[in-house]
Amino acid sequence: MHRWLRWPTDPHRPRLGFGADYNPEQWPRHVWRDDARAMRTAGVNIVSLAIFSWARIQPGADTWDFAWLDEVMDLLHAHDIAVDLATATASPPPWLTAAHPEILPVDRDGRTVWPGARQHWRPTSPVFREHALILVRAMAERYGDHPALAAWHISNELGCHNVYDYSDDAAAAFRRWLQDRYGTVEELNRAWATTFWSQRYGDWDQILPPRRTGASSYPNPTQQLDFKRFSSDALREHLRAERAVLLELTPDVPVTTNFMVMGETRGMDYASWAAELDFVANDHYVVPGPQGPDEQSFSANLVGNLAGGLPWYLMEHSTSAVNWQPVNVAKAPGELARDSLTHVAHGADAVCFFQWRQSAGGAEKYHSAMLPHAGEDSAVFRDVCSLGATLRDLSAVAGTPRTPARAAIVFDWDSWWASEQDSHPTDRLRYRQEALDWYTAFLELGIRADVVPAGGVWEGYELLVAPILYVVPAGLAERLTQYVAAGGHLVTTYFSGIVDEHEHVWLGGYPGALRELLGIRIEEFAPLLDDERAELDNGATGTLWTDRIDVTDPGAEILARYKTGAQAGRPAITRRSHGPGSAAYVSTRLGPAALQPVLAELAARAGVTSELPPDLRGRVELAVRGPHRFLINRTGRTVDVSAVAGPGALLAPRGVLVASQGGTP
Ligand code: GAL
Repeated sequence: MHRWLRWPTDPHRPRLGFGADYNPEQWPRHVWRDDARAMRTAGVNIVSLAIFSWARIQPGADTWDFAWLDEVMDLLHAHDIAVDLATATASPPPWLTAAHPEILPVDRDGRTVWPGARQHWRPTSPVFREHALILVRAMAERYGDHPALAAWHISNELGCHNVYDYSDDAAAAFRRWLQDRYGTVEELNRAWATTFWSQRYGDWDQILPPRRTGASSYPNPTQQLDFKRFSSDALREHLRAERAVLLELTPDVPVTTNFMVMGETRGMDYASWAAELDFVANDHYVVPGPQGPDEQSFSANLVGNLAGGLPWYLMEHSTSAVNWQPVNVAKAPGELARDSLTHVAHGADAVCFFQWRQSAGGAEKYHSAMLPHAGEDSAVFRDVCSLGATLRDLSAVAGTPRTPARAAIVFDWDSWWASEQDSHPTDRLRYRQEALDWYTAFLELGIRADVVPAGGVWEGYELLVAPILYVVPAGLAERLTQYVAAGGHLVTTYFSGIVDEHEHVWLGGYPGALRELLGIRIEEFAPLLDDERAELDNGATGTLWTDRIDVTDPGAEILARYKTGAQAGRPAITRRSHGPGSAAYVSTRLGPAALQPVLAELAARAGVTSELPPDLRGRVELAVRGPHRFLINRTGRTVDVSAVAGPGALLAPRGVLVASQGGTP
């Protein structure tokens, strides 16, 4: 069920949320008033509070100090600023870890993860859980009726630092999870293929997390994959436990937690978490590099679809530099607004930052904020104020769902996790990068494409790209077959359809589960060495991977062949028609530029075309929310968008323009 923020005042007024993480505990009391005043100046209407306040709220097992938080809550309310209040459980205080070192995580090598930073707790520790829930209860009892309270923010970025814990608590919980999944040890033995290397288990107690094994000796792959699934589920269990307390005490207050759909952050299968929340929230930090803005759009797009197309909350991004990259570069003019509005374009109804006031001490003092070290007389603060005004002007967008595209990219955590495991044909394969390259190709062609979870509903898309769909259980193969039979156009790539849910190979030739559908058969993989290239007869160059393809269905066309290398003369790209539908296969890594003509042909044959005029394709990204069309300038130059946004409309470098049917905004 989707429940949006409970705006304390004027609940029905359409508005976009605007604000930040607010950490008043880092500042003396007299600064708080100044904060509230400057927030008003900037147009802030919501802040996330108390995220790392456990030690301040509960300075000892039996001591509580709510007075300061009462004062901050009241102050914010008096300034018409709503609060997304944290349950405050993200980082346990020293008194707790000193009394209960058994809550500290253990890494793969058996080393304790010590306190001193944050999030040093085992997701499966019963002792941690008990203390965390006492705090959640205290917070809910204290603030459940506070007029500023707009939503609950469970913990913070669950799994950011503690997703993989190999402790004895984790081992016990892993066994329980496996019992639920397999029922009997025999069934587990079958799924884990334990006849291999004498790994057969006689009893549940013998099973461990995949702890450090000998050098160059690979732990059981299904055990590794199941441990990844389990670790994501264990954090989700924690989320559920906190939520249960909140539901009991404050059933009317919506609950969220901040996901980390960004870059290579991969430990949490958010497709299986989204249903736990009243609304989805995400944190995103731009990956430096030329594909950075595309990656941002890709992530925002995926979050929008995890949220079922309904509005979601951008909980954190940065006004400028972060502090955790090797070199932390400040944002260029226009990027702050472009980044924020890219998320709005993909369905965000709240735009928030880490953090409100830049810290003076601590590990994040060089991380940008809405109010930087330089103070209000700064370019960043002026940009923040101007963004606040823009978001106010865009109020009419609030509440509008995303409008689905006609094409989609399928994203699958199981395939991401499994395809990059060890002891495979190559260790160079990068699942998310391949998916992102296809996304960039869509952007370059000016064709709108959604990014949708594999378990979601994608039957309505006319063109479906499933890159490296490595794990294909029988049910998914069946769904894809029906999709094509019903007229859908499927495109898949190398290392797809290879294994079932236990990472057991589908026999008889690759790509096992999709072999019939694609009308091809591969006897052996042919990955490429780092300096090897495979030229195709369409002018493209493949890297990373090739396949030795035999076409088995006479109806399968060969769209491109290899021209050089071991596969010279053999098919590189194929497409088999199935009545009105089709299934195509791209057997090498082409990268965004060489994917473009391939995708252009496949999209054209699927009847999927760009909604942009030819001269804007590639230069402008289009995202649609009902009557609101967002145009995002992908270039560093001014673009004339009068063809879509009315006479004289210009899009500044890195600018965003919202053209709405009916005039506003
Ligand atoms: C997030 C976290 C914030 C802050 C931010 C810095 O991972 O939730 O508390 O650390 O990163 O970019």
